[in-house]
Amino acid sequence: MRLDKYISDSTPYSRKEIKKLIKYGAITVNGIIAARPEMQVTENDSVAIDGEDVSYAKYVYLILNKPQGYISATEDKHYPVVTELVSEEYLHYNVFPVGRLDIDTEGLLILTNDGAFDHAVTSPKKNVYKRYFARLDKPVEPEDIDVFAEGMTFKEFTAKPARLEICENPNEAYVEIAEGKFHQVKRMFERVGKTVTYLKRVSIGGLTLPDGLEPGEVMEFDENELKLLIFGNQEFI
Ligand code: URA
Repeated sequence: MRLDKYISDSTPYSRKEIKKLIKYGAITVNGIIAARPEMQVTENDSVAIDGEDVSYAKYVYLILNKPQGYISATEDKHYPVVTELVSEEYLHYNVFPVGRLDIDTEGLLILTNDGAFDHAVTSPKKNVYKRYFARLDKPVEPEDIDVFAEGMTFKEFTAKPARLEICENPNEAYVEIAEGKFHQVKRMFERVGKTVTYLKRVSIGGLTLPDGLEPGEVMEFDENELKLLIFGNQEFI
């Protein structure tokens, strides 16, 4: 790839800024001052700006503890969006949320710029179960477990069998679903006559929201570790 692409993929610098840095002799490739933005480099070359190594990163994977009040989008006319919680360091990667949580739902949300990963996590075919903690206006009943386990048909889709666990406080439950359709958990509880008053996603596959990650906080996650936790050893894409 071109040197300026390598750097713009991996740093906040724009192509214009990179051109200037090259002009000032601030960029080296394998220790030699680079002369042209079009110079061809590979991921194995050692690129540095002012002596600082720039490792090539095409994709980035972030996890956010989404607070209430934010829309799972990159822009919105009326409400704050989750990418506003992402620092400059990562914004230039053009990350977007993987799937959607409602504005009033909290918890685990992945942000990435890897479209194939996004597709695999959200595709019902991959059977990546998402686990939610829900608080309800009424106690959940043991019969509800069977209703969830049978799967549910809605106007635009049929939900696969969902796992429902009632907590010690019967107004609270954990539910695991394979899809992530619009208001799915809320609609499933509505089907059994309950209203969700609070909803938080706690895991996606084997990836669990870290204890210390406060609402609004973002952390970077290692790509291989993330894929292993979410897809296990199944062939990914
Ligand atoms: N189901 C819902 O109803 N809302 C969410 O935010 C996620 C799943």
